[in-house]
Amino acid sequence: MDYTVYKLIHYLGIALLLVAIGGVCIHAVNSDDKKANAARRLVLVMHGLGTFLILLGGFGMLAKIGEQGMGFPGWLWPKLIIWAALAGSIGLPYKDRKLSLAIVITAPILVLLSAYFAVFKPF
Ligand code: HEM
Repeated sequence: MDYTVYKLIHYLGIALLLVAIGGVCIHAVNSDDKKANAARRLVLVMHGLGTFLILLGGFGMLAKIGEQGMGFPGWLWPKLIIWAALAGSIGLPYKDRKLSLAIVITAPILVLLSAYFAVFKPF
């Protein structure tokens, strides 16, 4: 598959993950009962698909740009940590409403930070 196709898959994954995180967090701000979320199954599927497509697109691009010498390039590590943090954040919103709001505000900033590491490759 072409590098550009992997990048589109990467972008789709990011969009799905952000919508899922936003959906769960905004529901959790309004209700303590996760089962009361009529769209719960949908957002969990979007979350799973999003986290997978980010990896598929990311490793696909990595293979295309031939950066995989000895292990991962330095700039990929913070991206992997951000991916794990965003993927894991879905389990937190119903624990604390303030946390839900913090996740909604922080998630887009983490996406920007991950894009920064991909574009500027600072190390
Ligand atoms: C939630 C986490 C992530 C976000 C928000 C994200 C975001 C982005 C963005 C916006 C770009 C495009 C930059 C451009 O237009 O050139 C990009 C490129 C890239 N990302 Fe991610 N990414 C994430 C996770 C990952 C992961 C886990 C990998 C691991 C394989 C990865 C590997 C890459 C690669 C290889 C590129 C292309 C770099 C290049 O062409 O030079 N990303 N990422």
